[in-house]
Amino acid sequence: MDKVWSKRFDNSLNPFIEKFNASIGFDKKLILEDLDCSIAHAKMLCKTQVLSSAETLKIINGLEAIKVEYLEGKFFPSAPSEDIHYCIEEKLISMIGETGKKLHTGRSRNDQVGTDIRLWLRKEIDNLEILIMDLQKSFLNIAKSNIYTLIPGYTHMQRAQPLSLAHHLLAYIEMLQRDRERFKQVRSRVNTSPLGAAALAGTKIKIDRNFTAAELGFEKIYKNSIDAVSDRDFCIEFVSASALVMSHLSKISEEIILWVTDEFSFARLTDKCATGSSLMPQKKNPDVPELIRGKTGRIYGHLQALLTMVKGVPLAYNKDFQEDKEPIFDTAETISSCIKAMTILIDEGIEFNIKNLSDSVDNDFSNATDLADYLVGKKIPFRTAYEVVGEIVKYCLERKILFKNLKIDEFKKFHPKFDEDVFESLEPFNVVESRISEGGTGFAQVKKEVNNWQKKLLL
Ligand code: ARG
Repeated sequence: MDKVWSKRFDNSLNPFIEKFNASIGFDKKLILEDLDCSIAHAKMLCKTQVLSSAETLKIINGLEAIKVEYLEGKFFPSAPSEDIHYCIEEKLISMIGETGKKLHTGRSRNDQVGTDIRLWLRKEIDNLEILIMDLQKSFLNIAKSNIYTLIPGYTHMQRAQPLSLAHHLLAYIEMLQRDRERFKQVRSRVNTSPLGAAALAGTKIKIDRNFTAAELGFEKIYKNSIDAVSDRDFCIEFVSASALVMSHLSKISEEIILWVTDEFSFARLTDKCATGSSLMPQKKNPDVPELIRGKTGRIYGHLQALLTMVKGVPLAYNKDFQEDKEPIFDTAETISSCIKAMTILIDEGIEFNIKNLSDSVDNDFSNATDLADYLVGKKIPFRTAYEVVGEIVKYCLERKILFKNLKIDEFKKFHPKFDEDVFESLEPFNVVESRISEGGTGFAQVKKEVNNWQKKLLL
């Protein structure tokens, strides 16, 4: 097949370079967006009377027919077309003849590809929004029934203070909410039409950029034609927002991996989301969270690749930009499958060992702050109380006992203000209940937040 530009050249492309140059192998993913973009462009050319109604009808019918063929699995965009844009144009011309050659009037592949990827990303962002919300709902479902379930809270991976399990899970809902907000913001910038910028300078052909923008559901148009075809920052923003989603998923993954170890035993994996070992019959492996944790690196890599790709690229379009596609395609596919897998894992892949959780918080020193706060309640300065409790911890560790095993007389030796009611204040349940500050783990706070999320997520 002759190249569109073959008339200007004496020789044909080296076959290896032809393949090297081509993007059809991956940008065929943009076929539906490319067709929609062309349909809108053709309608606009009709409105501005660049094309006659008969020509427009022929072109649009042709493009619609290509869509049907593709959706019915009868058309596979492929080489030797260089990319999806040429592929559709070539196919259209082969179907409807000379009129097809008028479609590319007043546009360039530069504004065309920019339009396609924005349409594609917009759709992906909308899908992700639903997937992230589903994951939030799954977290909320478990949170709802575990307001009074206690779990040790950690800092530096050292036991810190006991928490309501619901509070711990709600933390993930908050992170995911920010992820949704970030995508929403990215979407508004993605939703800007570059179409009509043509190669870089605009065009002398009578076009109506606002018409195509409206046809394609764009909120606004790029104000500067050079910027319109040179901008890939929206791709970077998309992958950056995705990288943060992955960072959140990798945290919960890591926690689940730890929770299901024999050492922690805070939870167990059901058979639905675990795999066995080919050699060690006793094993049940947390492959799902491990894979999600592992795939996080891939998305960070895509972010790095895109940032480097745009660095120092002069205005306007440069072929470097063809490299934007694989990272965004893989990012969207990877993060949507990770979010789905995590949702399934939370829904049916993991069961908490409530008994182990409550035994854990009952057998540690994570109530030490509360012992100090007990003295603060008796008007002792916090720093003094802190030192007293430090001594008590040391005393207990030497005897391999916990605060609750001390006699009241022993307490009194450390400070005369200790009384019988100290034992009550050490109970993990009371410890958690007492954290009444806003945003804290106190049950009343957590209940309020569960209710807020119920309303927000329409559960
Ligand atoms: N396949 C190209 C890309 O993905 C389309 C735009 C090509 N434009 C050009 N002037 N060569 O970026």
